[in-house]
Amino acid sequence: MYVRLYMGPVVEEMVHVPVSFQRLWPICILVLVTTLFLIYTVLNLMKNPSTGSFNLRKITSGRNCSTTECLAIDHSVVTNNINFSFDFRGLDVDKLLYNRAPKCGSTTIYSIMQKLSVDLGYQHYNSKIYNKKLLDESQQRRFVKRVKRMPSPCSFDRHVFFVNFSQFGETSPLYINVVRDPVERIVSSYFYRRAAAKRRANQGRPNEYWMNKNFEQCVLSSDPECTFIDGGIYSVLLLPYFCGQDRRCLIHNHPWALWQAKQNIQRFYPVVGVLEDMNTTLIVLENTLPRFFRGAFKLYHNTEIRRNQNTRKKEVAEEIKDVKGGGSYKLYLLTINNAS
Ligand SMILES: *[C@@H]1O[C@H](CO)[C@@H](O)[C@H](O)[C@H]1NC(C)=O
Ligand SMILES: *[C@@H]1O[C@H](CO)[C@@H](O)[C@H](O)[C@H]1NC(C)=O
Ligand SMILES: *[C@@H]1O[C@H](CO)[C@@H](O)[C@H](O)[C@H]1NC(C)=O
Ligand SMILES: *[C@@H]1O[C@H](CO)[C@@H](O)[C@H](O)[C@H]1NC(C)=O
Repeated sequence: MYVRLYMGPVVEEMVHVPVSFQRLWPICILVLVTTLFLIYTVLNLMKNPSTGSFNLRKITSGRNCSTTECLAIDHSVVTNNINFSFDFRGLDVDKLLYNRAPKCGSTTIYSIMQKLSVDLGYQHYNSKIYNKKLLDESQQRRFVKRVKRMPSPCSFDRHVFFVNFSQFGETSPLYINVVRDPVERIVSSYFYRRAAAKRRANQGRPNEYWMNKNFEQCVLSSDPECTFIDGGIYSVLLLPYFCGQDRRCLIHNHPWALWQAKQNIQRFYPVVGVLEDMNTTLIVLENTLPRFFRGAFKLYHNTEIRRNQNTRKKEVAEEIKDVKGGGSYKLYLLTINNAS
């Protein structure tokens, strides 16, 4: 599932474009929240493939749950992959594409890949493009060509929504990704945005109100940064990473998007990991894709490889933080209720 890390040649696609990332923060938050919803929906879909509709009550009851149950959807992705014999036929098994979702441990994972690529003899290409996940057709074509051009075996990581290689007449590489509890992801992203803004010089900084905005307040006041409306378009969603470049993938709670994401996971993702269960994720990766991940578990536990963790994460009110108790979901649902 994981793509190789490659620290070598930086190709034009890989150039860091820090453009106006600051302005994207609010969008990012929205996307995160939406992503949470989407993950839940995906889980629901998996349990109940006939319906893509989003049922608030169902989620409410599903949310008062043990951690395990809360993560059921995510886990079903992982466990699916344990029991599910993935069909590698028709895929380019010498290339691995980690189209990494932000705030899901991707820095850690790609660092592992980078290190392993040396031992295991493949090239890993790490992209520094963080803000171009939605590509137009010519950008997709360039991306596809670039992946296909690199000598095998090799792996890539980039924050990019799923790209359909067959649309460009090419065999698809193997895809992998890692997800996490959607609420945790939103909270993490919310504080990460602010910590990142703080590190910047005073000039480019958002105003004090934004910097000090309280998360609970944000949710309860239906602040756009913390509100996701059905049918709204959010590029911060987690779902598009699995659904793809179609505009419908960005529509919050769009049944087709969920259906497509599921299709793609089954066809192209031998492993979708879960941040909360890194051990299982790494073991599944090693077993499913030994060529790219042999030794990943050991490396993870023997080295200081966990990176990009937000040490400035502020105290989050218990109500928000207590995901297991369902408090944060109540807040979250409140937002949704207000919105719809
Ligand atoms: C959640 O579940 C626990 C035990 O299963 C129960 O005691 C509690 O009342 C439930 N909370 C809600 C809001 O349903
Ligand atoms: C995976 O397969 C094993 C053996 O068939 C079974 O015991 C286990 O419950 C399965 N896991 C899931 C999540 O279906
Ligand atoms: C990918 O493109 C091919 C060829 O255009 C098409 O048949 C297929 O349905 C597409 N798959 C996805 C997941 O978009
Ligand atoms: C993960 O594996 C490590 C190393 O074997 C172990 O120490 C740790 O307790 C495991 N974590 C969980 C949550 O199982």
